[in-house]
Amino acid sequence: MDFKRHRNLRSSASMRSLVRETHLRVNDFIYPMFVIEGNNIRDEVPSMPGVYQISMDLLLEEVKEVYELGIKAIMFFGVVTAKDEIGTGAFMDDGIVQTATRMVKENYPDLLVVADTCLCEYTDHGHCGVIHNHDVDNDESLKVLAKTAVSQAKAGADIIAPSNMMDGFVVAIRQALDEAGFENIPIMSYAVKYASAFYGPFRDAADSAPQFGDRKTYQMDPANRLEAIREVESDIEEGADFIMVKPALSFLDIIRDVRNHVNVPVVAYNVSGEYAMIKAAAQNGWIDEKSIVMEMLTSMKRAGADIILTYFAKDVATWLKDDK
Ligand code: PBG
Repeated sequence: MDFKRHRNLRSSASMRSLVRETHLRVNDFIYPMFVIEGNNIRDEVPSMPGVYQISMDLLLEEVKEVYELGIKAIMFFGVVTAKDEIGTGAFMDDGIVQTATRMVKENYPDLLVVADTCLCEYTDHGHCGVIHNHDVDNDESLKVLAKTAVSQAKAGADIIAPSNMMDGFVVAIRQALDEAGFENIPIMSYAVKYASAFYGPFRDAADSAPQFGDRKTYQMDPANRLEAIREVESDIEEGADFIMVKPALSFLDIIRDVRNHVNVPVVAYNVSGEYAMIKAAAQNGWIDEKSIVMEMLTSMKRAGADIILTYFAKDVATWLKDDK
């Protein structure tokens, strides 16, 4: 009988590692963190076990742990009580994310700080832009977002990552950064961001749920695939240095499409709902957390992601160390 013996390459752990096509490295990850106003706070997010809202005075302790695990990049989200119509807290020089960024860069200059450029954590209505006539006004929002990006760069952010899904945000932010002397700061565009139910736990963690309506007039319809390519093309044209796809787990096909279409680094955002599902099942003893997490993150890289934003970054960094 003539057939192919595929099992020959699966015969032992050493053989399997020799032919493995996809690898996770600690350098692949960006770790998102929630900074909250106040003192001496380290509150676990109920829907995200293992993720904490941390006040400024305790933040460096956490950052030290992340740094010592070998993680190269973090991202901050601000949790604030003072909110207004335009999201002033997003662009104040002494805003919570700006302050956290300054502090981290003073203590860990080589740890990359990625700034999420959005307004929803700071607007009283919870939308990602400025509201006019019950909808988010695209071009007015761009002005506030550009200001936000510049304030983040001033505070020392290494990468600007706009997640607001307004049209033209890459070119508006690029221009503002250049004018302010930050032509060397790259833009990581959340180019392909779907209006997804997988963001549920994040909106608890960041207190950023929209107070009316939803985000469907600016975030993408999960049913669409070609639209992702249109978003990517315009963002590349506008000057994006990285392209992000978000969420990741239900959108692996999109990650692959994007990977095949661009030659810039592709980033996948393994979002809060993807994290919460695994944590909940693991806590019930229904799945093996480590194996599932490694399989899931490997699938994102196999799909074409170069970089993964994940709340599991610390866990994976620990596992990769232990497995050595
Ligand atoms: C800000 C933003 C969101 C997430 C990252 N940046 C929330 C949203 O669009 O509602 C979600 C991240 C996650 O779910 O982990 N716009």
